[in-house]
Amino acid sequence: MKAILLAGGTGSRIWPLSVGTNKHLLPVYDKPMIYYPLTTLMLAGATEILLVTNPEAQLSMQKLIGDGSQWGIKIEYVIQDRPSGIPEAFLLAPSRFHGSPVALMLGDNLLYGMGLGESLRTHVGAEGAKIFAYQVANPSEYGIVELNQSNKPINIVEKPSKPTSNLAIPGLYFFDHSVFERAKELKPSPRGELEITDILNSYLCQNLLKVQILERGTAWLDTGTAESLLAAGEFVRVIEERQGLKIGCPEEVSLRVGLVTTAQFYDNLSNIPSGSYKKYLQSISI
Ligand code: DAU
Repeated sequence: MKAILLAGGTGSRIWPLSVGTNKHLLPVYDKPMIYYPLTTLMLAGATEILLVTNPEAQLSMQKLIGDGSQWGIKIEYVIQDRPSGIPEAFLLAPSRFHGSPVALMLGDNLLYGMGLGESLRTHVGAEGAKIFAYQVANPSEYGIVELNQSNKPINIVEKPSKPTSNLAIPGLYFFDHSVFERAKELKPSPRGELEITDILNSYLCQNLLKVQILERGTAWLDTGTAESLLAAGEFVRVIEERQGLKIGCPEEVSLRVGLVTTAQFYDNLSNIPSGSYKKYLQSISI
């Protein structure tokens, strides 16, 4: 599956943390933020990922992640000059991506839950668009979806001041090939951005949008503010310490989903300096 991972933007909501580095390289406890959505995409079956960054971040991102071959995937990079909106990713994608279904994940979103990878793999390649809904206490801060009594979507709004639903839309979306054409039709919203909710509405109007409510046992965190960044780090620390298992290690995920052989996995380990990260990877048994 092809996927786009969005790690552009200015990180204005966490200024000055984002001045010297890209927000998506900041730590969420013991790993760079980008590892979490990247591994979610790997678990969902993505093998070709387009990583969208701002101009300043591309080199550091390449230094961290490379071309993905060490994890059995292919990663390409594209620059977004200005944060003109999430759907601009479709306009920046090389023509090779057009004509295929694609998953889109926001680089500051973290999803964690039992059986998530398996459940996500069922959405790949479906007709139309598939999104998730997650009950939150602060719906005005997100794109929200309103459902009717049969759980069919009837309304989607970006950051409503008076929300008609408390179901937020997490930053992981599955689209059919038509998303690339739909993105070309978009006009900037009053805040001057292309809006992901406008893409979703174009599917909704044609009855081509499916919504799955994420179970309560699934954690969805976004890390776009200082508070939520700290909360996400704390969440990861608590789960990892309790279970002795790490969340969001690309080396581990690549082995578990069969993207690399055991020999490749151990080859990757030989490039990691001694420390708790390496120790953990040495300890996992498949
Ligand atoms: O977190 C989920 C929410 O993400 C959704 O519910 C909203 O519908 C969606 O618009 C988005 O809202 P945010 O206010 O969180 O979007 P933000 O501008 O913070 O950007 C989210 C991520 O996308 C972040 O990792 C930066 C990246 N981004 C964003 C824009 C606007 C880009 O790479 N380029 C962009 O132009």
